Amino acid sequence: MPLSASPERVEIELGERSYSILIGAGLLHEPGHFATLPSAATALIVTNTTVAPLYAKALQTTLAGRFRAVHVLELPDGEAYKDWQTLNLIFDALLGHGSDRKTVLFALGGGVVGDMTGFAAASYMRGVPFVQVPTTLLAQVDSSVGGKTAINHPLGKNMIGAFYQPRLVLCDLSTLETLPPREMSAGLAEVIKYGPIHDMEFLDWIEAHIDALVARDPSALAHAVKRSCEIKAAVVGQDERETGLRAILNFGHTFGHAIESGLGYGEWLHGEAVGCGMVMAAHLSQRLGGIDAAFVQRLTALIQRAGLPVVAPALGAERYLELMRIDKKSEAGEIRFVVLDKPGSAIMRGAPDAMVREVLAQCCAA
Ligand code: NAD
Ligand code: GLY
Repeated sequence: MPLSASPERVEIELGERSYSILIGAGLLHEPGHFATLPSAATALIVTNTTVAPLYAKALQTTLAGRFRAVHVLELPDGEAYKDWQTLNLIFDALLGHGSDRKTVLFALGGGVVGDMTGFAAASYMRGVPFVQVPTTLLAQVDSSVGGKTAINHPLGKNMIGAFYQPRLVLCDLSTLETLPPREMSAGLAEVIKYGPIHDMEFLDWIEAHIDALVARDPSALAHAVKRSCEIKAAVVGQDERETGLRAILNFGHTFGHAIESGLGYGEWLHGEAVGCGMVMAAHLSQRLGGIDAAFVQRLTALIQRAGLPVVAPALGAERYLELMRIDKKSEAGEIRFVVLDKPGSAIMRGAPDAMVREVLAQCCAA
């Protein structure tokens, strides 16, 4: 594992809640990167049964000089465990170790661990500091940044949560070496997302480097993570609590969340559902007049080349509509979609049910 000379840095500008995202290989082995954290007697690394054997010992060793005790908690692995019961294991551990208001939580893992640890940090003793150490591509380019924390409810995805910013995000690119191929593809969905909603030059770059990204070329990955974080930082810096602009980051997510909860959490990966959801949102955008068929085709081909599904599961139109009405963007029962008003630009708006049904008929498996 090569150690990084000097990590890339992206700043999230949120006044007193500002923080840095550090990006580089081998970062979790380097104590210096944690030097700016508030001092505390104890720390708790929250991770899961898959990630713990790979990286928990290394992070614990790195943090040992800074805290009197660094405990490790292993949660069960999977989206199906992003729930109250598993969240409570974090509170059990914090209380069991006598953690106080200064105790620092470290989320070591993918978006599931990150979202749950962030929510625990937001609520334990009304808020303790936490650090994101994302180990999936999806978490490095999206979920660890911006302070959205949540658990799922059987009726809806990420329905219970809080906005709560980490003190630091440390993206160790070396951890991506152990990620299964399906998870790499899932992460690429969120990378691709930033192109059509915000940055056509980045979309061109992704198309030119998609094979290198799938093959985990280190410099391609480093650029993809950095540019994704820059775009997310710019959006979150303008609209931390999603009163408007930030909603564009949910391109593909209204359809995608319906796929995830409709099939049962964990059946499709979040990134797979988002990838397919972007295809569906692109078709809706075309029907609403924002983009042409050639752009829908271009996006669909890229999503497919990233190894993601582009045909949606046949849940039935009524079920899709029912699930999408529970989406957080809905207002007074009206579903609101993030659609492209032109390539490189997204807006949020409603759409007639009849049009959504046409999209579902076009995009779902027979
Ligand atoms: P995940 O957390 O389930 O991780 C994917 C799998 O990879 C898991 O089995 C995990 O144990 C394993 N893993 C993690 N790192 C590994 C490594 N380095 N080597 C080998 N295996 C590793 O899934 P994810 O895709 O990281 O995150 C999806 C979650 O993120 C969803 O719950 C989604 O709702 C959430 N999310 C949140 C935000 C946000 O802004 N907070 C944004 C996007 C997604
Ligand atoms: N992943 C969407 C957001 O952070 O707003």
